[in-house]
Amino acid sequence: MDLANSCGEPMIELIGCCKSFPGQNGRKTVAVLDAIDLTISDRELVCILGPSGCGKTTLLKLMAGLLRPERGEVCIDGRPVQGPGGDRAMVFQNFALLPWADVLTNVAFGLELRGVTKQERAERARALVREVGLEGFEQHYPHQLSGGMQQRVGLARALAVDPRILLMDEPFGALDAQTRRQLQEEFLRLHDIAPKTVVFVTHSMSESVRLGDRIVLLTSRPGRIREIVPVPLPRPRSPDLETDPTQTALKEYLWQRLRAG
Ligand SMILES: Nc1ncnc2c1ncn2[C@@H]1O[C@H](COP(=O)(O)OP(=O)(O)OP(=O)(O)O)[C@@H](O)[C@H]1O
Ligand SMILES: [Mg+2]
Repeated sequence: MDLANSCGEPMIELIGCCKSFPGQNGRKTVAVLDAIDLTISDRELVCILGPSGCGKTTLLKLMAGLLRPERGEVCIDGRPVQGPGGDRAMVFQNFALLPWADVLTNVAFGLELRGVTKQERAERARALVREVGLEGFEQHYPHQLSGGMQQRVGLARALAVDPRILLMDEPFGALDAQTRRQLQEEFLRLHDIAPKTVVFVTHSMSESVRLGDRIVLLTSRPGRIREIVPVPLPRPRSPDLETDPTQTALKEYLWQRLRAG
């Protein structure tokens, strides 16, 4: 199953991307990603699902321009990615908040780098803090927040720069089931209001089905694309879809495919 998505024009293209890292202490090179070909459309939400260590974070970093492929090319709107850019923002696997800065400063961080005035930074950061449900915690520091709250700060910080592309690395992975579900629904609501092109890495089959337009299944290292599975569920995604037979069948299908190794 590999259907083209009808969201929009091709936006992110990975063409034959390979990446390896030098081995430590004279060990041989570790091949991490092998010949990745992937086209993501404008405003599409693509989930990347694959075993631990298969290269998911590496794949996002290639799209972010934080790493360069050894072979192949990453293009955005047909132009090769040369490095990080204001069109992309990444939500990191481990929150990556500034521990010495309060919530507002963390959210406004990317804006400062982009030369937005102090007053505008404060206004935008306050609005986003409200948007992600953290009103009243503006002056709290990361160590005073729960994991879920820290992840909300990470999301607000990525949204603050109003990127066209959101690269999300297991953003809800460290959360308890209830908080995770709540954040998924809030994220879907934000995505319905202002759709962006989203690449969302997850370990969770349910999460990928709940959120994605398509699911990219990777093999274990070196990561290759095993299959691209379209999710034929309408948007906005209703929470009642949980018991929808299509959703149940899709999760079972993913499980069978991943179990096959
Ligand atoms: N900067 C680096 N230097 C050397 N090796 C690296 C580097 N970054 C990643 N690797 C190696 O690349 C492989 C893939 O790492 P990556 O973080 O992309 O996996 P992942 O699929 O995101 O895993 P997880 O699901 O556990 O987050 C691992 O073997 C890792 O050790
Ligand atoms: Mg990772």
